[in-house]
Amino acid sequence: MVDESNLSEAVAALKRAVRVVVSSGAGMSKESGIPTFRDALEGLWARYDPAELATPEAFQRNPDLVWAWYIERSEKLCTVQPHAGHYAIAELEGLIPEVVVLTQNVDGLHVRAGSRDVVELHGNLERFKCSADCRGRPTVIDLSTISYSKDHAPPCPYCGARVRPDVVWFGELLPPEAVERAFEEARRCQVMLVVGTSGAVQPAASLPVEARRAGAVVIEVNPAPSFITPTAHIFLQGTAGTVLPRLVAALRAEQEESP
Ligand code: OAD
Repeated sequence: MVDESNLSEAVAALKRAVRVVVSSGAGMSKESGIPTFRDALEGLWARYDPAELATPEAFQRNPDLVWAWYIERSEKLCTVQPHAGHYAIAELEGLIPEVVVLTQNVDGLHVRAGSRDVVELHGNLERFKCSADCRGRPTVIDLSTISYSKDHAPPCPYCGARVRPDVVWFGELLPPEAVERAFEEARRCQVMLVVGTSGAVQPAASLPVEARRAGAVVIEVNPAPSFITPTAHIFLQGTAGTVLPRLVAALRAEQEESP
């Protein structure tokens, strides 16, 4: 159960805020049925060896295996929906002047729930690109315009290099413009709401540190402590799907009571 005094403190911080940044990780999507990366047993990596699937070397070594895994994950997205936590974050936009979502997730669920300013730090599973970025970074390839099979990485229609998912693999740089925007927003916000991330991966893990250094109140939503927790002023223990709707409903009630 979420600690009521922590919830009230979080509502008070949000009520004072003009700019709020939400920084989300895989835990944000777990209640939509998408496994996280590091949860024991069911974590995505528990079943696969990331070095075999999510690196440029793996794609070089076995493009068809990597392609098939990503096509499977991409197609799974048609079967999942945003949950109440995603919709609560989208609802924040009606309560707070400026809301920006910085997500490590590649599932597009924040946008599908209605969030209008989403920075995808690690790319998007539903977007594919030429692995040589032959026409600029990224050279997006619309799969509906080419013929391809689920088992073979198709050739880029422009240059013949293989088509790959437009997601950040281990060892790759994040999209520079996304990183720049993310740290700029972290420095400008009055509140950063960190949801469902272990804080195990950089540079996303540094965003709350930057926000706190710049004077923001850092609120963490997670069923368990993480590497982020020591940086958080307020820790709301619980899942995204239960805590976020409660937090947003309490903020709405507070604003209606004393605008
Ligand atoms: P992790 O799997 O590392 O962490 C998931 C976090 O979500 C953990 O802290 C869990 O306690 C928490 N969690 C689990 N269920 C939750 C729920 N229902 N509600 C809220 N939180 C919950 O995932 P990330 O931190 O996102 O990078 O991992 C970051 C990056 O590691 C991924 O973007 C990916 C991976 O390498 C790339 O692919 C480049």
